[in-house]
Amino acid sequence: MGKEIKGKILLLDDLVNRVNALQQSGKTVVQSHGVFDLIHPGVTRHLKTAREQGDILVVTVIKDEDVRRGSGRPIFPDKLRADNVASLEFVDYVSIVSDEAPFECVKRIRPDVFAKGQAYKERDRNIHGKIFEEERELYFGKSKIFETDGFSFSSSRIINNFIDIYPEETRAFLRDFSSKYGFHDIVKALDELKGLKVLLIGDGILDEYHYCESLGKSAKAHLVVNRYITHEVFAGGAFAIANHIAGFCNSVHLVTLLGKDNSKDDFILKNLKPNVDARFFYREKGPTIVKKRYINEYLNQKLFEINYLEDENIKEACEAEIIEYLGDTISGYDLVLVSDFGHGFVTENIIRGINEYSGKYAVNTQTNAANRGYNLITKYKNPFFVCLDEPECRLAAQEKHKDIEETIRNLKNIINADHMIVTLGKNGSISINSDNKVKRTPVLSSKVIDTVGAGDAFFAYTAPCLSRGMPLDLVSFIGNAVGAIAVQIPGNKRSVEKHELLEFIHTILK
Ligand SMILES: Nc1ncnc2c1ncn2[C@@H]1O[C@H](COP(=O)(O)OP(=O)(O)OP(=O)(O)O)[C@@H](O)[C@H]1O
Ligand SMILES: [Mg+2]
Repeated sequence: MGKEIKGKILLLDDLVNRVNALQQSGKTVVQSHGVFDLIHPGVTRHLKTAREQGDILVVTVIKDEDVRRGSGRPIFPDKLRADNVASLEFVDYVSIVSDEAPFECVKRIRPDVFAKGQAYKERDRNIHGKIFEEERELYFGKSKIFETDGFSFSSSRIINNFIDIYPEETRAFLRDFSSKYGFHDIVKALDELKGLKVLLIGDGILDEYHYCESLGKSAKAHLVVNRYITHEVFAGGAFAIANHIAGFCNSVHLVTLLGKDNSKDDFILKNLKPNVDARFFYREKGPTIVKKRYINEYLNQKLFEINYLEDENIKEACEAEIIEYLGDTISGYDLVLVSDFGHGFVTENIIRGINEYSGKYAVNTQTNAANRGYNLITKYKNPFFVCLDEPECRLAAQEKHKDIEETIRNLKNIINADHMIVTLGKNGSISINSDNKVKRTPVLSSKVIDTVGAGDAFFAYTAPCLSRGMPLDLVSFIGNAVGAIAVQIPGNKRSVEKHELLEFIHTILK
C-alpha cells in the first residue's frame, strides 16, 4: 500500500508529461489544487465529485513556503499532506507545487477540468478575481472550471475553532472583530485604495545581508573569523514602502535621496515595481545609504552591521531644489506619506514645506543606530496620522517607564496629530483616534523569521487605509495582519502583496 502511495506522488515535470500522455490517449484529466492540511468529509466529497468529472484526478498540493493561511499553518508539512491525499483511492496523482503566483501550476498541467470546492469559491472570487476574470485564458486555457458543492465547512474554519493557534485573548478579539466586519467589507475597502494618489517622501536604503559560517578564533586577535557564503541585496527604507503601496494603489510617486558616490540608480530602478514613479535627488558628498549585515547562516543570527552613510543635513541648494519640487507637485496628490529615517534628507525646512503645501500628511520617524534620540516625531506638527514603534514613542515623549496608553495620549497632544498607532512588536499595536480613545489590537502571528521592515509594511498599508476614511480599529487590524505576513519575510526581500493579505484575513476571520 505504502509503495502504491509513493508511486502516485510525482515531481511537477513528471506529472505534466504523464498528463500529456494520458490526454493523448483520450483520457479526461481533472485537477484539484490546494493546501489539504486536514482531510475532512468536505475534502473527500469534493475530490470524489472532482474525480467523477473525468477519468483521472490529479491533485496539486501547495508547498509549505507558499501556504498563506496565517499563524501555525500549514499544520502538517507538504510531504505528509501529499501522502495523505495520495492515500485516497480516487486520487490518481499528486504533486507538491509552488504557488508563489497563485495557480501557476495549472498553466503547466493544462487539465481538461479544473475542480474548485465550495469552500474556496467565495475566496477565489475575491482574492484571485483578477486571475479568474482577466487572466483566465492564460492560466486555465481551455480547461473547464467545475465547482463541486461539498460541505460548506473548510479546513481553516475547523482549524481556527478546534486547534489552539492563537491565545484565548486573540480568539476573543477575532470573534468580536468578525461580528463587526465581514471579509467582503475588507475586500471592498482595500479595492477602493486603487485610485488613491500617493506621494511618498523618504530616505532610500539598500539592505545587504552577507551570510557567513564561523571558522574559529583568529590566531592574532580576540575575534572569531567567519567564512563568506553568499549575500543578498534588497531595496529597503522608502524603496520598500513604495513597493508595498504599489501593490494596492495604481501608482505611487516616490521622492527620495541618493548619494552621488556609488549612487546605484540602476539597481534601485530595477528593484522598484513598474508603477512606482521615482524622482531622485542626490547628496553632493556621500553614498546612497547601504546597511550591510553579517549573519551566521546556520543560527540565522546577526553578527555585525556596518552602515555606509553620510547623515549630515543636505546642503541648502539641494534642499531648496527639493522644496521647490514639492511645492509644484504636492497639490496633485490625495495623500503625502513621510518616511523619515533621520539620515539628513528630511530637514526642518522640508518639513515646513510639507506642512505648508500638503492638505493631509502621514509620518513615521524611524529610530535607528545612527540617529537614536535625534530623529523625533516632535519635529512634525499637525499630521493626520502618525505611526511609530514603542521606543520611538517613548523617546519622543521622554517617558521611559510611564504607562504606554498615557504616553501615547501625551505625545498625540504635543504634535497635534489626528490619529496615531504605536506598534508594540510581539504585543501587536495600540491606536488612539481623534477622540483620544485608545484601543489595542493583538499580534496575529506567532511564526517570526525577521522583524526588520515589519513596521514599514504596517505604515505603508495603514496610512492609505486611514486616509480613505476607514475606521481606526479596522485599520489597526489590517496593519497587524500585514505585520504578521511581514515578519515571515527576511528583511525587505519582497513586499507584502494584497492577495496574500486577503488570503490571510480570510483564513483568520473564519
Ligand atoms: N516578534 C514579533 N512577533 C509577532 N509579530 C510581530 C513581531 N514583531 C513585529 N510584529 C508585527 O509587526 C508589527 C510592526 O512591528 P514593530 O513594532 O516591530 O515595528 P518597527 O519596530 O517599526 O519595525 P521596523 O522599523 O523594522 O520596520 C507589529 O505591530 C506586529 O503586528
Ligand atoms: Mg519602524
